[in-house]
Amino acid sequence: MPALVLLGAQWGDEGKGKATDLLGGSVDYVVRYQGGNNAGHTVVVGDQKYALHLLPSGILSPGCTPVIGNGVVVDPAVLFSELNGLNERGVDTSKLLISGNAHLITPYNVTVDKVTERFLGSRKIGTTGRGIGPTYADKINRVGIRVQDLYDESILVQKVEAALDFKNQILAKLYNRRAIESGKIVEELLTYADRLKPYVADTTLILNDAIDEGKVVLFEGGQGTLLDVDHGTYPFVTSSNPTAGGACTGSGVGPTKISRVIGILKAYTTRVGAGPFPTELLDEDGEALRRIGGERGVTTGRDRRCGWFDAPIARYATRVNGLTDFFLTKLDVLTGWEQIPVCVAYEIDGKRVEELPYSQSDFHHAKPVYEMLPGWSEDITKAKTFDDLPKNAQDYVKALEEMSGAPISAIGVGPGRTETIQINSFL
Ligand code: GDP
Ligand code: IMO
Ligand code: MG
Repeated sequence: MPALVLLGAQWGDEGKGKATDLLGGSVDYVVRYQGGNNAGHTVVVGDQKYALHLLPSGILSPGCTPVIGNGVVVDPAVLFSELNGLNERGVDTSKLLISGNAHLITPYNVTVDKVTERFLGSRKIGTTGRGIGPTYADKINRVGIRVQDLYDESILVQKVEAALDFKNQILAKLYNRRAIESGKIVEELLTYADRLKPYVADTTLILNDAIDEGKVVLFEGGQGTLLDVDHGTYPFVTSSNPTAGGACTGSGVGPTKISRVIGILKAYTTRVGAGPFPTELLDEDGEALRRIGGERGVTTGRDRRCGWFDAPIARYATRVNGLTDFFLTKLDVLTGWEQIPVCVAYEIDGKRVEELPYSQSDFHHAKPVYEMLPGWSEDITKAKTFDDLPKNAQDYVKALEEMSGAPISAIGVGPGRTETIQINSFL
């Protein structure tokens, strides 16, 4: 079982950090393959809480090598501040590997992210403002700056000039902002070069060799399936591919090497930022989920929008990722409701629809069709096995499994590493 992908099945914040950390002790490499410091992955170890943005959650497991793959966008200032923060808390980060092909988030990418959102006004995406979209746009436009460019100054100068030529026209003429001097950008980027150097590696070669030697490699997704630029609720998405295929392009490991794809699935639904959300609750139930679930963004501190579980979304995640398993998280948050509504299908323009519609307009009109499942009031946070759960909680899990199209192999009953019911092994 050499290579596993672990990814978000909904709109992010499903508990990927916890799930990755749980597996971290048994795997050799944990690889981020897309996104950047727009992610906020929380890991709770004993009484210690860590919020990771750019670094793979495996960094907290001493035997594990953390890898930032070619598909990730790296803000070097954020990277060093995250590394410093961990070092101050006694975490050894010396094993980190970073792909020389990963793209750098530059200060002008962050500026463009912020001014674009401001310019969009009420049509804004609600991005994290970290420069993610503009950095991927530069990559696709072939004017991006890669980690390896830091080690050839004349190339770096040319590339930064090329990237800024066009951007400065837009910044000055459209957004009424001062043009950005390329010399200053180059100067800043070069200050990172020496400290970054020991981490830079041919990660594609290293990971493929590791898999061939039977080592266990875990790919940790950022964001989630419905934030995928191809398969998500476009345009209200991030600018990368969190879905399973992204693990291949974002690391240089071929699909034939991936043995298992685990979807992290919250027992209800949340979303941050703008965009459609059929089961969103704007009432006291939504407020209660937010309060009990602690649904506040790890990266931006924004309140998360909350709603009931949406089965068409889970089925869709199974389909587009080829999921082999689910890890159901935050079941404990649902304790106390007499009845729990679950969205089993949508009603769109008077018709019942079982699957996520491919048309954006239809999804905006989709009204949830709810089935009521009986709730439970017993504290489940100490449950260690499926049998420890009250009957109604067991039935809730079984119903979700039936609707979602893949086995639920683990259940989270609290934020800590040990607050997990393992049903089938992932390894
Ligand atoms: P990620 O982005 O997918 O890693 O998720 P976040 O860290 O942004 O949000 C998940 C939150 O839920 C974090 O605060 C976790 O500590 C917490 N969490 C994860 N699993 C569970 C669980 O099973 N129960 C509870 N109560 N909290 C959980
Ligand atoms: P983790 O990994 C939840 C959302 C933003 C916005 C949209 C685009 O913690 O699950 P971006 O800055 O990426 O261009 O913003 O995507 N978003 C997330 N929502 N969890 C995340 O990461 C997210 N990363 C981005 O709120 O709606
Ligand atoms: Mg998060």
